[in-house]
Amino acid sequence: MRLLVATQNQGKVAEYQNLLAGLDCEIVGLGDIGLGDLDVDETGTTFEANALIKARAYAQASNMITLSDDSGIVVDALNGEPGIYSARYGGPGLDNAGRRQLLLSNLLGVPDEKRTAHFACVIAVVDPQTGAEYTAYGQVDGHIMTEERGTSGFGYDPVFRPLGDTRTFGQMDSSEKDPISHRGVAAQQLPAILKQIEAD
Ligand code: IMP
Repeated sequence: MRLLVATQNQGKVAEYQNLLAGLDCEIVGLGDIGLGDLDVDETGTTFEANALIKARAYAQASNMITLSDDSGIVVDALNGEPGIYSARYGGPGLDNAGRRQLLLSNLLGVPDEKRTAHFACVIAVVDPQTGAEYTAYGQVDGHIMTEERGTSGFGYDPVFRPLGDTRTFGQMDSSEKDPISHRGVAAQQLPAILKQIEAD
């Protein structure tokens, strides 16, 4: 099976290549099929809606079985913010480091037991031939630190400590983070979904 991993983020294409290694599946990126410039607006109000919006749009444009995902960090003391707006938290002027600092400053004075948060990820797979749509959800629970620790990973990794560990995701390498991460947990459901699509 050829599977389009529809993301502008080359890091994610590589991550899915790792996660799906061992399956009889050729992973193709948007750039490989000349769709590198096609942007799709995330107009949904949930991770699931946004993952499906992207998977449907790229499946239609490519006529290929297409995977898209949507993810973010949900902070309880901030009523679930930044959530689906994680990549845009604080507006277009901020980079990843600026977004992390904004999060830490919005939690200033909040005690550790109230700094609970989770990363969430929904992976959507759409088959344009049959119209079949599947989604998989993954979540990892943890706490937001009071300061950054570690430089690995991306986004909010240096300020997120998963439950049961003393280190942040920023202090783990990908072989430690991937099996327990929201994206890794969702991806564990992909072999069954792809098998089902083949049988549809
Ligand atoms: P998207 O899923 O590409 O829309 O990205 C959502 C945003 O959530 C990213 O830009 C990051 O800021 C954040 N995010 C999602 N997953 C992770 C992760 O595994 N580590 C750190 N930040 C993440």
